Amino acid sequence: MKFLGNDMITIENGVLKIDGYDGNKLAKEYGTPLYVMSENQIIRNFKSYEDAFKKYVEETGREFILCYAYKANSNLAITKLLSKLGCGADVVSGGELYIAKLSNVPSEKIVFNGNCKTKDEIIMGIENNIRSFNVDSIGELILINEIAKEIGTVANVAFRINPDVNPKTHPKISTGLKNNKFGLDVQSGIAMRAIKMAKEMENINIVGIHCHIGSQLTDISPFIEETKKVMDFIVELKNEGIEIEDVNLGGGLGVPYHKDKEIPNQYYLADAIIGTIMEYKDKVDLPNLILEPGRSVVATAGVLLGKVHYIKETPCAKWVMIDAGMNDMMRPAIYEAYHEIIPCVLREEKEVVNIAGGLCESSDVFGKNRKLPKVEVGDIIAILDVGAYGISMANNYNARGRPRMILTRNRGHHIIRERETYGELIAKDIVPDHLL
Ligand code: LLP
Repeated sequence: MKFLGNDMITIENGVLKIDGYDGNKLAKEYGTPLYVMSENQIIRNFKSYEDAFKKYVEETGREFILCYAYKANSNLAITKLLSKLGCGADVVSGGELYIAKLSNVPSEKIVFNGNCKTKDEIIMGIENNIRSFNVDSIGELILINEIAKEIGTVANVAFRINPDVNPKTHPKISTGLKNNKFGLDVQSGIAMRAIKMAKEMENINIVGIHCHIGSQLTDISPFIEETKKVMDFIVELKNEGIEIEDVNLGGGLGVPYHKDKEIPNQYYLADAIIGTIMEYKDKVDLPNLILEPGRSVVATAGVLLGKVHYIKETPCAKWVMIDAGMNDMMRPAIYEAYHEIIPCVLREEKEVVNIAGGLCESSDVFGKNRKLPKVEVGDIIAILDVGAYGISMANNYNARGRPRMILTRNRGHHIIRERETYGELIAKDIVPDHLL
């Protein structure tokens, strides 16, 4: 049996296997809840981008750089793996920049996003001589210029424009609409004003235009519209005597969470973006191309395993209670996100159930009305495609330690993140003397 997007999931003799390893055995060895990440699947996802976009380099002689969005999953083993493959980093905080440096990502492959970079983060970015700050406001531009001046250097900046493109995704993960908080509006002239200001600044080096319209895009047309708007703007800039080296089109390619619906992959994306940029080859010098995908690099490489502790019937449903919860993986609770759920032992008989975690919240439900092979107490349940925005959004709600994470590879598996202990849960709390 095949699962769209994740070649690592197979069903053999009624048992779910992850990268060839029996999910039940992994759960027994490492305990639950457990994140399982597949090294092979991450490599495949990354290589699909490289392979799909190499024709841009061949046709234009310019660079193509993939800056993996650390927010999707910034586990050090994963960032090191990607860095070893030659991948860059899209960071949005001092913490992520720290992890990128620790992962040996070269400075010229690090871009810094975010709409509220602090002074300390800007200093850190300048001192590390990153490829670009993706500037989100005029205030930020002024601050970067001041800090660069104090340090006695020149900072590289790209401008995040807001193109007002509908990404046709969940409203909570749309970012490039006029009413979103991100970017410099193009239509009203704010973006142009910011860039003209930058041109006059002594400590700013204008390197690029950046754009990101949203996440989990399952339709290619918004990417085409985005690329056109960016390229039109670059033509306008050229007319003003401003040359652009880098075009960064952000991330956003979706993954097939629903296994019955095929969605465009990296190759469709590459054809759409490259085809659109090529239409401008007589109008401007073609730029280096940067992308910042997060989800499509790691989502399909991750599985969350939880153990069934109770099965109970209410007048409305049969509930399967597992020891993974919304604190471990928030996506269903906050975005009503769909994730495929499969028991690791697949019995013949089927039944319709709700699968829930054990937190005291009614939104702590991973799936409702799912027709699954019958499960029993003690069974292991797999929640698929959780490699992105799973552990990175996990938290300690209900005083639950975040789960252990392992990495599977051809030759065995390794723990890449330890389970948090009770002691760690209170390690940062301080009890004043009068309460001792
Ligand atoms: N670049 C920028 C500037 C971004 O804001 C994002 C994601 C990315 C790149 C990566 O986008 P991706 O390729 O992963 O779609 N927590 C949400 C997703 C929030 C995405 C925020 N920005 C979720 O679980 O669906």
